[in-house]
Amino acid sequence: MVAATVGSAVGLGNIWRFPAEVQSNGGAAFLIVYLLCVIILGIPVMLSEFAIGRAGRSDSVGAFKNLGARKGWWFVGGLAILASYLILCFYMVVAGWTFEYLWQSVTGGLFEVASENVSLHAHYVGRMDSFITQPVAPLVNTWIMILINLGVLLAGVQKGIERMSNVMMPVLFLILLVFIFVSLSLPGAGDGVKFFLSPDFSKITPGVVLNALGQAFFSLSLGMGILITYSSYFPKSANLTRTAVTVAGLDMLVALMMGLVIFPAVTSFGLGGEELRGAALVFITLPEVFEQMSLTRFWAILFFLLLTVAALTSTISIAEVSVAFIRDRFHLKRWKACMVVLVPLFALSALCSLSLGPLNDIRIVGFNIFDFLDNVATNIMLPVGSILLCIYVGWFAPKGLFRGQLTNDGGLRSAMYRPVLFVVRYVAPLLIALVLVSYFL
Ligand code: PHE
Repeated sequence: MVAATVGSAVGLGNIWRFPAEVQSNGGAAFLIVYLLCVIILGIPVMLSEFAIGRAGRSDSVGAFKNLGARKGWWFVGGLAILASYLILCFYMVVAGWTFEYLWQSVTGGLFEVASENVSLHAHYVGRMDSFITQPVAPLVNTWIMILINLGVLLAGVQKGIERMSNVMMPVLFLILLVFIFVSLSLPGAGDGVKFFLSPDFSKITPGVVLNALGQAFFSLSLGMGILITYSSYFPKSANLTRTAVTVAGLDMLVALMMGLVIFPAVTSFGLGGEELRGAALVFITLPEVFEQMSLTRFWAILFFLLLTVAALTSTISIAEVSVAFIRDRFHLKRWKACMVVLVPLFALSALCSLSLGPLNDIRIVGFNIFDFLDNVATNIMLPVGSILLCIYVGWFAPKGLFRGQLTNDGGLRSAMYRPVLFVVRYVAPLLIALVLVSYFL
């Protein structure tokens, strides 16, 4: 189960979202705030979810019920489910891009430069830019990913996919090491390393802090009820603290490695042009890195295959939260619940995808639909959900629950219990609230 939890954490959040956020939030200063958020807030919030899940032994609403929480607390579970569904809407779109790039690596189309006069860099920028702003092509890919999700969920073979991903994630790790090596040997790589690792503290603003917090929670799959569900399968003997530290540590490591692949390449080749969104960053920069390697297509196929599988495990586990909820709440058959969850996604993801192209003019508080959903779910719903979760675990949960879970009923001498409880009770709710408030003031 630890491997599955790591598998859930490591995904497009690390590979795609993290570099984009670092890029648009000024580099190393963001990185430091992000790392602090993971260590100080992420791990204790994760432990709270683990405790509820392993003690409540159910999905994110059922667990609260099983613990005898008053009805109002189920709302926390409900909020988490809503957040996960909103995240699914745009995550599916990016999963579609991944699939498209896998396909183009297989056919070799990705590396075909149309005319001699175009620089390679301009080629990759143009390719991604014109791809995501088209109405139809990205949509088709997104829908393919939804269909694959539907197929897997209907056939009930999630476990198989998960096992596949558990084998593939170590491979991803290894090939990232190879890419780091290539990237660091590019001309001008040093500036990228400096951008990524040498902080300019004057760049830290309330917005940067909120983005870092959101990224930390997104990447650790926190505040979505996922970890409550996962930990309900943990054995009684599992050491929760050690598990949380391992998951958070590996997740941070993958993000750091990804930064070391992307930023040296960015300073070496240049960015994707002013108007291009950070969201496109890795899809432009990575092919440029592959181009530097012999066996370009081999690396591209391998990488995008791993990324597609990582995206699939994530979308499936996010969808599963809603499926389980709909099935149990409304007493529907599993296949009906799958339909209720996934069919609306065809339209909702389409809106997200189109909002980068033809529907870009539709703005909600200044954001297009894609960015709006991303910002609201990631930067607001996950932190708010996490505050409520901490308040429940810290103050309202059955007495001794948290201690019992962290120490396995006294069996483990977990030195971490006291400081973690302190964070869950006071530090996390206050600090997260402060970040939210200071952003909106
Ligand atoms: N944490 C995953 C990532 O970094 C995203 C995810 C969220 C996966 C929720 C599962 C559940 O991509």
